[in-house]
Amino acid sequence: MLHIRPLHPSLGAEVTGIDLSRPIDAATRDELTQALAEHLALVLPEQSMTPGQYLTAAEIFGPPMRQHYSQHNMPGYPDIGLVWHRNGQRPAERWHTDHTNRERPPAATMLYGVEIPSAGGGTSVANMRAAYQALPGEERDRLATLCTINSLDEDHIDTREEDRKQYGKPIIHPMVRTHPVHGTRAVYFHVTKALCIEGMTPEASKAYMNDLLERMIQPSIVYHHRWREGDVLVIDDRATMHRAHGDYDRNESRVLWRIIVEGDRPTLA
Ligand SMILES: [Fe+2]
Repeated sequence: MLHIRPLHPSLGAEVTGIDLSRPIDAATRDELTQALAEHLALVLPEQSMTPGQYLTAAEIFGPPMRQHYSQHNMPGYPDIGLVWHRNGQRPAERWHTDHTNRERPPAATMLYGVEIPSAGGGTSVANMRAAYQALPGEERDRLATLCTINSLDEDHIDTREEDRKQYGKPIIHPMVRTHPVHGTRAVYFHVTKALCIEGMTPEASKAYMNDLLERMIQPSIVYHHRWREGDVLVIDDRATMHRAHGDYDRNESRVLWRIIVEGDRPTLA
């Protein structure tokens, strides 16, 4: 029996009473999908899974999709990306949602805490449904007319040429999208994957997106997750943004296994 306990007034819930290493029945899968759409971030503590079991569990939320940083794939498991910073990689500290350069970007990002530093290194998740609702009416109307043109981050210099070729084509997404399960609207963009907003210069586009982030993302809509080994954090990428925190001792290890699962093509209904 699942037990769901909200973790923050705006978003986030802890889900206990489930072992992701075992087969999950259809009713429980449905309950988890609904819980994700409602709470936008789910924390499933005390999990212990092999890579294969983790991939099977991820299918609750959608089919695992290939990530475009193949240099960080887990050897033998190309649909699991290793989030770590051993070789000088910088944590993703800017607010973003994942892989907006895909026609069908991820419905969810799953992170499994395998090695956790003794302090810092948390992950924050912001409720972009609440952010949309808090905007003035005219700005909501304006945003509903805008689209971003997305590709790979230009400043990720270690992206492999083969990934650039495969995943670098421009993809257009609306800046407000309707959630396919929940039916509500959320602000949707990735400030460094968006080359520009259609009809605006790259400079004006970045300035507007950065200004939006600054105004929208307030502590009242942010859940901060402090990792414990064995936590699985599931983030609904259709209505949230997230960021990592690099405030931990780099002599310690922080290793998260990441799976992204495919969602629908973003639309505004
Ligand atoms: Fe991310």
